Amino acid sequence: MSIAKDLIAKAERREALFGIIGLGYVGLPLAVELAKAGFKVLGYDISQRVVDGLNAGRSHIKDVSDAELGEQVKAGRFSATTDPKRLQEPDAISICVPTPLSKFKDPDVSFIVAATEAVKASLRRGQAIILESTTYPGTTREIMLPALEATGLKVGEDFFLAFSPERVDPGNPTYQTRNTPKVVGGITPACLEVAVALYQPAIDTLVPVSTTEAAELVKLLENTFRSVNIGLVNEMAIVCDKLGVDVWEVIDAAATKPFGFMKFTPGPGVGGHCIPVDPHYLAWKMRGLNYKTRFIDLAGELNSEMPLFWVRKVGEVLNDAGRAVKGARVLVVGVAYKANIDDLRESPALDIIRLLDAQGAHVEYHDPWVKRFTEDGVERVSQPLTPELLSAVDCVMIVTDHTGLDYGLIRTHAATVVDTRNALRRKA
Ligand SMILES: NC(=O)c1ccc[n+]([C@@H]2O[C@H](COP(=O)([O-])OP(=O)(O)OC[C@H]3O[C@@H](n4cnc5c(N)ncnc54)[C@H](O)[C@@H]3O)[C@@H](O)[C@H]2O)c1
Repeated sequence: MSIAKDLIAKAERREALFGIIGLGYVGLPLAVELAKAGFKVLGYDISQRVVDGLNAGRSHIKDVSDAELGEQVKAGRFSATTDPKRLQEPDAISICVPTPLSKFKDPDVSFIVAATEAVKASLRRGQAIILESTTYPGTTREIMLPALEATGLKVGEDFFLAFSPERVDPGNPTYQTRNTPKVVGGITPACLEVAVALYQPAIDTLVPVSTTEAAELVKLLENTFRSVNIGLVNEMAIVCDKLGVDVWEVIDAAATKPFGFMKFTPGPGVGGHCIPVDPHYLAWKMRGLNYKTRFIDLAGELNSEMPLFWVRKVGEVLNDAGRAVKGARVLVVGVAYKANIDDLRESPALDIIRLLDAQGAHVEYHDPWVKRFTEDGVERVSQPLTPELLSAVDCVMIVTDHTGLDYGLIRTHAATVVDTRNALRRKA
């Protein structure tokens, strides 16, 4: 039997051992889903704290409960390690490491390079390596393939290499790892066939595409689509503000069109590890090919200027009340980058707090999902949302519209509210 056929048969019998490199927001849910499907899964992470916690059945990711994880640990289907030598054990390895931006907004693929080096050090015949991290088109073929083939092993024959973008949407109650269709592209047709067979038991729908570049680009198209459309409605919010028209009324009415319109909502800007970051990967790649991605750049500009737009609104409402921003008490409600999650990465709330601070406001915050955080060397602690606090502050600014917040309390006790999400009206 060929190596590919052998691996496919192992996947069908759930006998393949899966390795997951990087056990964060993406890697851990994938690991647990694969374990639930019957695979044995070995997680590998450089963080001893993460690995110790997971082996003790403690999840650090909200989308995976301790009970769910504990069940797989107890059943012997999931364990984690910091020992890179153990990467020779798995038959399949999915790489889910971070892909941030450098200070100058260029791709930082150092985590992918480090993970590739770890895989390369113990690569053996019969292993399939699948990159999940969001990255620019060409990464799998240009960075990973030469490194792995330097071992003397041949792709598509001795080992298999594919790209399959993770689409996890943290906090989404409907779509999780299993029921979100998964795109896969292989370096060779055998790579694609092996990768699809490996994921088949754990994912309801697999979407094969012809190359790793196509698969890499799918993810960037999806996130650029969101960034551009959010940029468009954010611009519409600025336009409506200048015209004295209610942007939410306009959007809700437009959304009644049963075809040709998709509803996006304005807000304080974009956050998280994806929308503000991923389009820059494509823009960078295209700059190298002498092409300027204008939509990406414009949407990025618009979205990153929204915190300033909303801080100006705070200035306006305080001015109307005869107060200056300097010395005013402002309560920011919600600091996570979106509703019902505890993730602060790239959250526009951080920019908003920084801008208000710079103007001399006294900023406090309330967020039931984020009990405390440190930014710019300052530790902040979530304040209880009480009638006393709401009536004591000069302005309440709703930045994240978490479900379950007492919006009625805000409406009743706050002197002035700047509502970046239209939460008070929507939750009325
Ligand atoms: N968070 C999301 O919502 C989301 C959604 C879709 C895709 N993605 C993409 O998935 C990738 C991972 O993102 P994430 O949010 O899971 O990141 P994360 O920071 O939550 O997790 C990454 C994990 O990788 C570990 N790690 C870093 N370098 C390592 C190495 N060399 N070897 C082993 N482990 C290492 C870290 O310790 C951490 O535990 C990124 O490319 C991201 O763009 C993220």
